[in-house]
Amino acid sequence: MEQNKPQQTQEKRGMWSSRFGFLMAAVGSAVGLGNLWKFPYLAGENGGGAFVLVYVVLVVILGFTLMLAELSIGRNTNSDAFGAYSKIKKGWGFVGGFGILAGFLILSYYSVVGGWVIKYIVASITGIGADKGAYFTNFITSPVEPIVYHLIFMGLTALIVIRGISGGIEKASKIVMPALFIMLAVIVLRSVTLEGASAGLKYYLTPNFDEITLKVIIAALGQVFFSLSLGMGCMVTYGSYLNKDSDIEKDALLIPSLDSLVAIMAGFAILPAVFAFGFEPSQGPGLMFVTLPAVFENMPLGMFFSVIFFVLVFFAAISSSISLMEVTVAFGIDRLRWSRTTSVMVFTAVMFVIGIGASLSMGAWSGFLIPWIDGNSYGIFDFLDVVTSYYLLPLGGLLSAIFIGFVWGVPNAVKEIRIGSKFRSEKIWSVLIKFVVPVLVFIILLSTTGLLDKIIG
Ligand code: PFF
Repeated sequence: MEQNKPQQTQEKRGMWSSRFGFLMAAVGSAVGLGNLWKFPYLAGENGGGAFVLVYVVLVVILGFTLMLAELSIGRNTNSDAFGAYSKIKKGWGFVGGFGILAGFLILSYYSVVGGWVIKYIVASITGIGADKGAYFTNFITSPVEPIVYHLIFMGLTALIVIRGISGGIEKASKIVMPALFIMLAVIVLRSVTLEGASAGLKYYLTPNFDEITLKVIIAALGQVFFSLSLGMGCMVTYGSYLNKDSDIEKDALLIPSLDSLVAIMAGFAILPAVFAFGFEPSQGPGLMFVTLPAVFENMPLGMFFSVIFFVLVFFAAISSSISLMEVTVAFGIDRLRWSRTTSVMVFTAVMFVIGIGASLSMGAWSGFLIPWIDGNSYGIFDFLDVVTSYYLLPLGGLLSAIFIGFVWGVPNAVKEIRIGSKFRSEKIWSVLIKFVVPVLVFIILLSTTGLLDKIIG
């Protein structure tokens, strides 16, 4: 692995110490609860193969294009998400600002689910009992316990981020990511060889074209952004710690490929097993937590697999949550001129408090609903999820594409990318970022808000 030399001016902000370290951190950001917890249950809710097909098509069109866009903006400016946009064009910092807000809101509830995962590592050992559904519901609706786990998850995230870029994030991801691939492969092997797994494989792999509805497309779009950590300046921030000689064209191909591989593998680990044991694939966010413990129980060495699996999910979640926090913290360091420690402590405290609301909305506060522009009302947890995945992230992606296409200008972005890359995909990328991506995301976003219905008919 080539070593990047830290530049003088960058010392205060920190830099990646190697290309491998950066890659593992970026893949670590992308691979998380989005892949292991959300992707399988969204597939289960949205027609299995139909969802997987739409997801893959959208990743191919959007993943590489927007990943390269964000990395080029970040490396060009060496700034946090807000500063990056405003450095290139005054008045455009708000694009990064949306992203910082999105990251902040996502981490507030992400950390609650991260806490559930820690609880399930413990529960894998102490036992979950016969009724897995009741166990899960009892736990997430209780007033105190999930908040304690949320605090633990948030605290661990804060500790790693305080240690800084190559000290904390990079070191953690270098170990976590390769371990994750290996552990996941073991579970996939077990799951697909279960008796009765073939029905799940068929459901997961055969797209029924009648099931590709607008709802499926909207869910897949939100998931692409969420899973690839796109649309909120996360990859702008990570790109800002890169040296000029890094080949970001290659990185922008590798990161979405590896991320999608893990998501698809998570589907293989969960859905065939769900069918093999006769569970309901469309049960939603509880899918992993309710079904897998029952699945593990019916497997030889079940407790062993269960602990490994939840430890694996925890690692993936924490390497994503540190990237979510880094976006906000970099803003505190670069814009507000806070020290890294102050920035982490202040934002952690606020996110912890919002997370308390998200956790309580599963139980005690379930009657407290927030109205939203789509005409629905949501509890705090769902509100944070819906607003970020289906609105803020796609909007951030749309704005970053428009920013490159029409504000910074494609030729300037191309110049930046060419510093370290041969950029063989220059022509196709230029068309994708300027026309295809903005139009596609704009149309889906319009239909998400319900405006498309009103305009068309
Ligand atoms: N990509 C992460 C996941 O799939 O779990 C979540 C995430 C991390 C979203 C960082 C956005 C982000 F900027």
